[in-house]
Amino acid sequence: MNVIPSPLHMLQRAHSAFDMKTIERALNLTRPGGFVPQHYDVDPHTGFFPPQPLPRLPATHAIWEDALLKAQKCLFLAENQSEQALAMRQQGECWRDAIRSWPVLSAVSFNSDIRLLQRAHLVLAWILHFYTHSIPRTYSNAPLLIPRSIAIPLVAVSRELGIAPVLTFADTVLWNWDLVDPEHPLSVENIRTQNTFSHTETESAFYTVSAAVELKGVEMLQIIEAYMNLPNVTERASVVKIGRDLIALAKIVKELTEIFNTIRGKIDPETFYWMCRPWWEGAEVKGSQPGWIYEGVANSASLDLGGPSAGQSSVMHALDLFLDIDHKLAQKRQPAPTETNKKAEQGFMERMRRYMPGKHREYLARVGAVPCSVREVARTTPCLQEPYNEVVAALKHLRDVHIRIACLYIVNQSTKAPPPESGVPASEVRKAADGHARGTGGNPTTVLLKAGRDATHRAMLMDG
Ligand code: HEM
Repeated sequence: MNVIPSPLHMLQRAHSAFDMKTIERALNLTRPGGFVPQHYDVDPHTGFFPPQPLPRLPATHAIWEDALLKAQKCLFLAENQSEQALAMRQQGECWRDAIRSWPVLSAVSFNSDIRLLQRAHLVLAWILHFYTHSIPRTYSNAPLLIPRSIAIPLVAVSRELGIAPVLTFADTVLWNWDLVDPEHPLSVENIRTQNTFSHTETESAFYTVSAAVELKGVEMLQIIEAYMNLPNVTERASVVKIGRDLIALAKIVKELTEIFNTIRGKIDPETFYWMCRPWWEGAEVKGSQPGWIYEGVANSASLDLGGPSAGQSSVMHALDLFLDIDHKLAQKRQPAPTETNKKAEQGFMERMRRYMPGKHREYLARVGAVPCSVREVARTTPCLQEPYNEVVAALKHLRDVHIRIACLYIVNQSTKAPPPESGVPASEVRKAADGHARGTGGNPTTVLLKAGRDATHRAMLMDG
């Protein structure tokens, strides 16, 4: 009886005919002039993380560093009406007065040192969020003035780095860590969170779980780099390598899902929603509340001030771009988008990229501009369809798990009363005016995330 080999069998047979070293030699993966992630400040071992913790700012800028340390000792969320928070109100006011009376320090001297620029962004953006979210609520309609002493240097540093002048995923995750043991390199086990707003385990855990995703993602970046450097994607040796890497990629995506599944054990939903998230809010999410005006900055209203979101995680964007997931619904793929899918902001992922460091955004643009996407190669190469679909299925499952997490941590919490330890009066219910619970980026949460999940599903190759 003739048995038709499955695509996976075909790949396995191809593997045995070539050992990987021979394949890589044949493909000349390290040829000059190829795609070099380091050119985009992407490290071969730590990915979008800098390989070392960021250095502290020099003594000339000690007032910034000192203010960030002090903020963590004396500032409370404005909504927190606990005895302890009220007792510290005066100190908080002194802290904000001091910021308003600072001179405008220039950060031009850091321009030749990307790590100092990143540190300056982190320090100023954290101070900005401590400042805005600790001011006791007046519920006036006047816009909130951000003092020029933070606004001017934050915008200058952000322009240098090509990143939004507000707290971002980079400030809370990529740059916000120290090594537990400085003798050992960066790893999930060897980092601890540097700054938190709420001093809660939940907040640190949110940053470290996000860091775990980023660090696991480095293995994906290595696969992407290898693909980008293939001289000819249709050569037999290339096809073997791509197939093998797709199988490895599906495994990595499943491991990422396992990391997401650890969230429930580490992050408390009430603490997350009531004591951490309010600190991350940017100016765009205030609904009827006034926005922020950056004193001394021309055209302040045009700044990107959405605040941090794990939607700014560059590894997740890299994976989407590599697989050619069509979040913008630009291509006619099946099944057709539902009416609800169409209501989601289709430019969301692109907007999130404006909150990434410019070099990382350039990296992503380069990955997205590959002349022949891996999806296209898989579409026209029968033995690659199944491995490609395996990765897409794994990513769709990851997004299903993520949606359940977002529902538990945001949608469900938005209808509940705040827990006593938050110090927030029970009357305070954080819910957007239209009744949709919103993410930090200001989007109706489930509509957006389901549209992303469905866009992922639509990348499946149907005849595979
Ligand atoms: C308690 C944990 C989490 C919650 C409640 C949560 C919630 C959300 C929400 C509400 C959004 C919509 C965007 C926004 O407006 O901010 C979002 C988007 C996103 N989040 Fe999370 N998230 C969590 C953990 C993570 C982690 C650990 C990662 C990985 C780094 C991640 C990656 C993403 C990505 C890539 C998006 C963009 C949409 C998509 O790719 O589907 N999230 N998340």
